[in-house]
Amino acid sequence: MPNLPSLRIGQHIARYPIMQGAMAVQVSGASLAGAVANAGGIGLISSFGIGLNSPYFDQSQKKKRFFEANQLALIDALEKARQISPDGIIGVNILVATRDYPALAQTAASHGANAIVTGAGMPLALPQYVRDYPEVALVPIVANVQSAQTLCETWQKDYQRLPDAFILENCKLIGGHFASQCEELDVSTIETTIAQLRGYLDRLGISIPIIVTGGIWNRFDIDLMFAIGADGVQIGTRFITTEECDADRQYKEFHLQAHAKNLVTVPSPVGKPARAMRNQFAEDVLSNSPALEKRCIANCLESCLCRDKGITYCLLQALSKASQGDIEQGLMFSGGAVQPVEKILSVAELMASLT
Ligand SMILES: Cc1cc2nc3c(=O)[nH]c(=O)nc-3n(C[C@H](O)[C@H](O)[C@H](O)COP(=O)(O)O)c2cc1C
Repeated sequence: MPNLPSLRIGQHIARYPIMQGAMAVQVSGASLAGAVANAGGIGLISSFGIGLNSPYFDQSQKKKRFFEANQLALIDALEKARQISPDGIIGVNILVATRDYPALAQTAASHGANAIVTGAGMPLALPQYVRDYPEVALVPIVANVQSAQTLCETWQKDYQRLPDAFILENCKLIGGHFASQCEELDVSTIETTIAQLRGYLDRLGISIPIIVTGGIWNRFDIDLMFAIGADGVQIGTRFITTEECDADRQYKEFHLQAHAKNLVTVPSPVGKPARAMRNQFAEDVLSNSPALEKRCIANCLESCLCRDKGITYCLLQALSKASQGDIEQGLMFSGGAVQPVEKILSVAELMASLT
C-alpha cells in the first residue's frame, strides 16, 4: 500500500490527510479531537451546543447565558485538547446557522485553534471575525462549485483573503444534514464536483486542498477519494466507535450495531433533511407524533422551525440527549456508509488501520 501524503492547510501540515469530522452535540469534544491530532490527523472540536451540559450553563436560568457558557466551554475544550496533543492540529467547527457564530469564531481563534471549519450556511463574513489571527486556517464546507466561487470572490473582494482548503460534501453519504436537492443528483456527482472545483481553483491560480467528506469508512474508501482527485478526507461516523469519542458509552455501543439499511432521512428544524439512525425518536419525527417535545431550550439558531413555527423538534436537545446516552429519545446522526463494528477501538488503532 503506498503511503498517504501529508496535508497542508494554511500554515499547518498534518502527517496524514485525514480530518476527523466535527460531531455535535459533544460527540467530538476535546478527547476525540486531541487523540486524532496526536495520531497525525486533524482533530475537530464541535462547538454547537458545547456549553449545554457544562458547569457554565444552568437550564433553569435565563437562556441568554447559554452563549457565554458556549464560549467558556470552548476555551476549556481547546485547553484540554492541547494538553492531549501539544503539537497536533486542532480545529473548531462552527455552524454559520448559530446565533453566536462571531463570538465562537473569535473565541476559537484567540484560544489556540489551528483551524476553523465551518458550514451549515455561507461563512461570508468569517475573515472579519478572525482578522487578527492570520495563522488560523479557514476551511469552509461546500456542496458545490458555485458556493466555493461565491466565497472566494467575497473573501477576496472584502478581506483580501482566500480559504485555506475546501471541504466538499458528498451529500449522498454524509452524516447529519445534507443539501435538499441531493436526491436529484446522480451517483457520479462527487467525482464530477471534485473536478469542477479543481478546475475553478486552477483557473484562479490557487492551490489549496480539496477535502472530501461523506461515507468514508476505511483505507479503500480513502484511496478511492484520492483516485478521483481529493487531497484529503474528512471522516465522521467511523470515529464514533472509539474509546476517545466524547459521547456516552451507550451511544457508541448503539453505533457498534449500526447498519446502513437502518438509516432514515428525517426533517430538521434548520429546514434541511438529515441522515440518522432509526430509533424511537426518528419514528416519532417521521410520524409527527404528539409525543415529540417541541420546546426551544436555548434559542441557539438564527432560523429554527421549532422555535419560529412550532414544527419539528429542538435540534440541540435532540442531539444532546443522544450523545448523553438516551439512544431511543435522542437524534442519532449517522453517515450513509455506516456498518457494524466488532469493537470500540482506540483512535491510535483506528488511525493505524486507516493509514
Ligand atoms: C453525529 C454527527 C454529528 C455531526 N455534527 C456536525 C456538526 O456539528 N458540524 C458539521 O459541520 N458537521 C457535522 N456532522 C457531519 C460530519 O462532520 C461529517 O462531515 C460527516 O459525518 C461525514 O460523513 P461520515 O459520517 O460518513 O464520515 C455530523 C455528523 C454526525 C454523524
